[in-house]
Amino acid sequence: MKILVLSGPNLQLLGLREPQKYGTTTLPEIHGLLGALAKELNVQVDCEQSNHEGVLLDRIAAARGVYAGILLNAGGLTHTSVALRDALLAIDVPFVEVHLSNVAAREPFRHVSYLSDVAAGVVYGFGADSYLLGLRGLVAAITRTRR
Ligand code: DQA
Repeated sequence: MKILVLSGPNLQLLGLREPQKYGTTTLPEIHGLLGALAKELNVQVDCEQSNHEGVLLDRIAAARGVYAGILLNAGGLTHTSVALRDALLAIDVPFVEVHLSNVAAREPFRHVSYLSDVAAGVVYGFGADSYLLGLRGLVAAITRTRR
């Protein structure tokens, strides 16, 4: 089972960026932790980050038929991007939305997600662990549908 892990704008700055909100773990460290968890779960993860909406849209479109699921932290695009929602709806690949911070406890504009209602699940507020919990949930959801 192959899983695509996609991180959007500004997430390459994890570790430096507002550590009181996002923690001190860097994105390469998160990718390392996901790789270790993937081994335990017997799946393969490919991890990518882009600051560019179009690049993310292209990666999502290319995921059809290649990946069993997508683990996605779309960063600020979560709250703005109809195009990202449409890209995810256009492919027959389940995804889990994750955020490091508790977006529900932050500014009102972060309470809106264009993705949550079409996601297989959503995990937020656990720092880097949101990614790990999200991967566990995504793999379990895919496994359930294959039974
Ligand atoms: C974030 C939350 C978003 O609101 C914000 O724009 C980010 C990071 C998170 O992981 O907590 O860039 O997705």
